[in-house]
Amino acid sequence: MFFDAVCEAPPDAIFGMGAAFRADPRPHKVDLMVGIYKNNRLQPEMIPAVQKAKKEIFENDLLADYLPFEGWKEGVEALGELAFGDWWKKIQGKTFSAQTVGGTAALRLGGEFLAQEVTRWLYMPKPTWPNHRAVLERAGLQLGEYAYYNREKHRLDVEELLCDLDQVTEKAAVLFHVVCHNPTGCDPTEEEWKEIARACQKKKLLPFFDFAYQGFGENLAKDRRGLEIFLEAGHEMLVAYSCSKNFSLYCQRVGALFVVGKDSAVKGRIGSQVKRRIRTLYSNPPAHGIRVVGQILKSISLKAQWERELAQMQKRIAGMRALLVERLGERFTFLKQHKGMFSFADLDKSQVQRMIEEFAVYLIDNGRISVAGLNEENLDRVVEALLSVTS
Ligand code: LMR
Repeated sequence: MFFDAVCEAPPDAIFGMGAAFRADPRPHKVDLMVGIYKNNRLQPEMIPAVQKAKKEIFENDLLADYLPFEGWKEGVEALGELAFGDWWKKIQGKTFSAQTVGGTAALRLGGEFLAQEVTRWLYMPKPTWPNHRAVLERAGLQLGEYAYYNREKHRLDVEELLCDLDQVTEKAAVLFHVVCHNPTGCDPTEEEWKEIARACQKKKLLPFFDFAYQGFGENLAKDRRGLEIFLEAGHEMLVAYSCSKNFSLYCQRVGALFVVGKDSAVKGRIGSQVKRRIRTLYSNPPAHGIRVVGQILKSISLKAQWERELAQMQKRIAGMRALLVERLGERFTFLKQHKGMFSFADLDKSQVQRMIEEFAVYLIDNGRISVAGLNEENLDRVVEALLSVTS
């Protein structure tokens, strides 16, 4: 009786359709919903370098104690080097880093820290990952939006973006996707990143980067270019990093929060505040996943193997996107510009509904396609569905 007044929560925008998909009896159904890498047999798989690292550490990973609030230092530092490249050595002394429970906890923690210690305002791209709003609102931030994708032009609208950044409250935080923008697949060019960094400097805006797809855009080094441009311009920043996709460690929940401050004195104070919040959210992060990541990044041969395997995943997705564009024809050439796991086919909700009902092609209702869910077998069905609902 205590719970009689509890009402049903709305389904999750991304995982919420899973049950309907599983219950659909049509044998040719296609799942283009969740952003998870699948091989060409459409199976999610733990990549071999990760399997090897897991085996290597299994016998010796006998930790029977808590990790510190901020996690396993060596692993987080290795992630810092991966995320920031050559910049890591230069910024390490002024960067507080913490291992987190996936990229989502990094966003939540960073959001809480911002809302309570730095600024209440954060602006997000329109559109963005549907969970951003929920996570950052829960963190206590007031959310605004800035223009990102232009549906008529089918691309990132940098003019509108810059115009909106010029209007936002000074000293607010601004959320950016470092690479493989989710859901549109459209990233700024190098020149555009430079203009964006300048605009942030002019309005004294604090960038908060979501970095969840390193390696899926072009390669590990090129995919961090946006971050480097902001660092070159002298910005302080927050970065929420996820190892879910590039290490296929989805269920182990490995991520990190990096807060780059202006010097080592401020780093200590930032750390004290972030750690206090970790203590109240989940106390200590889990050890296994970060150990696997550390094992890979610290071994020359395993790291080389992992880089090769990550490049193969990137290549399979890029290949499927190219085939999709070729079969869809000229009307859809804009999909070619997209990077990473997602493409935005510019479908409205009723078109998405038709894709599901008439063709059993499942995608989330913002019209995002998870390209990793395509293979040679289901491609024609998806092409037929897309051409039909957009004609
Ligand atoms: C997605 O966008 O599909 C993934 O990031 C999975 C998730 O957590 O939403």
